[in-house]
Amino acid sequence: MFLRNAWYVGAWGTEIGRQNLLRRTLLNEPVVFYRQEDGTPVALEDKCAHRHAPLSEGKLVGDFIQCPYHGLEYDASGACVRVPGQSNVPPDCRVRSYLAVERHQWIWVWMGDPALANSDDIEDFHWMDAPGWVAKGERMHLKGNYKLLIENLLELSHLAYIHATTLGTGAIAEEQMTFDRGDRDVSLTRWIMDSPVSNMFQKLGGFEPNEHVDRWQRVTWTPPAFVKLDVGAARANTGAIDGDRSQGFGYRNLNAITPETDGTSHYFWAQARDFRVDEDWISDLFVQSTHEAFSEDLWIIGLQQENMDTGTTHPRIDINHDGAAIQAIRMLEAMIEAENGAAGAVSGATRRNSQTPLQS
Ligand code: FES
Ligand SMILES: [Fe+2]
Repeated sequence: MFLRNAWYVGAWGTEIGRQNLLRRTLLNEPVVFYRQEDGTPVALEDKCAHRHAPLSEGKLVGDFIQCPYHGLEYDASGACVRVPGQSNVPPDCRVRSYLAVERHQWIWVWMGDPALANSDDIEDFHWMDAPGWVAKGERMHLKGNYKLLIENLLELSHLAYIHATTLGTGAIAEEQMTFDRGDRDVSLTRWIMDSPVSNMFQKLGGFEPNEHVDRWQRVTWTPPAFVKLDVGAARANTGAIDGDRSQGFGYRNLNAITPETDGTSHYFWAQARDFRVDEDWISDLFVQSTHEAFSEDLWIIGLQQENMDTGTTHPRIDINHDGAAIQAIRMLEAMIEAENGAAGAVSGATRRNSQTPLQS
């Protein structure tokens, strides 16, 4: 069960146009995306009301989408407006439409009750298109439940192991984080003081090999599955921990995870920076090296999911580093329960253990 009354990222704006109709499964529902002639994005149920063929295999006729099978046409509200060979349209002939808003380079979709939707509630990702910033990223596909990726992003001690040759250094796992649970967010902070610089940070920050740095990780989760990181490093002992970042560099790693199915997810991410914004090679290096690192995450999470899917998984054991992730998943579960009613949300399948149930 997913949180439905929430805005999710459905696609990059660049993925949607007039030529290629984009089919994407979100929260177990097939959705087709396209743009009207004025560029407005549209998201409809990708299942024709007639015989359930996918509209995404059809074509656009003006602002209408035509089913490839028998030619029924639908408008942007999902209402059928034309049936070939007859003058009347059968009552109730419509597909579901989803509210779609383009903001911060992404197409946001509301999969829940339209009466509760307010575009002011779209998560703040202003770094994606703010003046003075440049942001670039991609969508990756995760063969795992979205909550596993939330946990991953809130438990950065894994940098020392899974990302040993990309983002990580051994020192990260030895440092404890501090975390705070707010009314509607969980944040964590970790400082790794006076330690060797990672390979990626050396390239991006212009540090010498083996130079020591003070490195920060400030991570904020908001529901359902947004994780924003303020990360960076400065030359060791130059005051970064007290707010002086002049001897280093930092950037934002922005993550929006959208469930595809119970066991798969869409991972939208971008790296945003406000330094050397005209240097495309830095954007490319960011994307390339982050893709490499995140592939390591998706690999291990996919294997986690496979293990969990065997059905023989024992209750999970928690360690100190899990604190922030446990709080976030608890808050998300509580919201899902509140939305669906406690009786519907709590079942043996969703409660594998007392702290961090991980099925949707
Ligand atoms: S299935 Fe779409 S028109 Fe028949
Ligand atoms: Fe990771």
